Amino acid sequence: MKPVRSFASDNNASVHPDILRAVAAVNQGHVVGYGDDPYTAAAVRNFKKHFGPDIEVFFVFNGTAANCLSLRPMTESYHAVICADGAHIYTDECGAPEKFTGCKLIPISAPDGKLTVEAVGHAYHGIGDQHHVQPRVISVTQATELGTVYTPREIRDLARFAHQRNMFLHMDGARIANAAVSLGLTLREATRDLGVDVLSFGGTKNGAIGAEAVVFFDKKLARDFLYLRKQGMQLASKMRFISAQLDALLSNQLWRKNAEHSNRMAKLLEKEVRKIPQVKIVQKVEANGVFAKIPRHAIAKLQKHYFFYVWEEERSVVRWMCSFDTTEQDVKRFAKAVAKVVPE
Ligand SMILES: Cc1ncc(COP(=O)(O)O)c(C=O)c1O
Repeated sequence: MKPVRSFASDNNASVHPDILRAVAAVNQGHVVGYGDDPYTAAAVRNFKKHFGPDIEVFFVFNGTAANCLSLRPMTESYHAVICADGAHIYTDECGAPEKFTGCKLIPISAPDGKLTVEAVGHAYHGIGDQHHVQPRVISVTQATELGTVYTPREIRDLARFAHQRNMFLHMDGARIANAAVSLGLTLREATRDLGVDVLSFGGTKNGAIGAEAVVFFDKKLARDFLYLRKQGMQLASKMRFISAQLDALLSNQLWRKNAEHSNRMAKLLEKEVRKIPQVKIVQKVEANGVFAKIPRHAIAKLQKHYFFYVWEEERSVVRWMCSFDTTEQDVKRFAKAVAKVVPE
């Protein structure tokens, strides 16, 4: 098969060679399974270096599980989770958060992917009413599903709103590295320091094979997490191979370098396609995704050569994602291909 790079998803990207090397490096001898091994201890230490010594962190296989498992300790089944209407937990997890927590998800219209305090305020009602679910968590996605990034102030305001009402702030950080880089912040400054209580930390989209983490900044919430993770079928027997990946991502600035590169490629793609009058960029390009409205007839023609998703069928909006392994040449070639098909 001829190797190609496309713009469908950062999940379609390859694995960063440093991650593969880290996996190979721990591939010797036997160690205890299920996380009681020195490589997992080293990765946990690394998370503590980044986020502070008083966190609890647990590794899982995928982002859906990180989200569901993050939400579970914060909620009872009569609670509700407020999220954007395009949130991954609401649109792309097949109802897993509802099934796993028993909670209702309350979606809020968010045309740029971001919740606001004002919009969340409208959904915060029925408190103390036995007929009504009780809002307990606000879940934000950073960077958002639409390639935008909350400012620190926006996150801080949502955290304050939540904490003043005995609620928690969850962050789906499948692309937290892209967001932190975009904001010029460390991972801690972009999460914990803004008032996030629980973070789904993404590794896979940033160069790992299948390695995510649940990070608790409020340790009390982590009390029963070992059992919840096992019940959630996310306890890896050969944990060292997940731990080694996350340890590598958090070492030598790999998380930052990968995210910086994919963000830069998205900016370049934006710049190139903005030269094409028939292409309209419909969201701010603040992370590694470009959302564009293109002539309907061009989509199928482009898709003959490049795989990508139509995001909004009705408006003819497509999503183009960049990854750590996207090259400038990929971007320029793709922009040329777009320019070629749109006028026809
Ligand atoms: C915002 C967001 N959250 C979480 C996920 C993780 O999902 P998965 O369970 O496929 O790893 C994704 C993946 O596409 C995502 O885009």
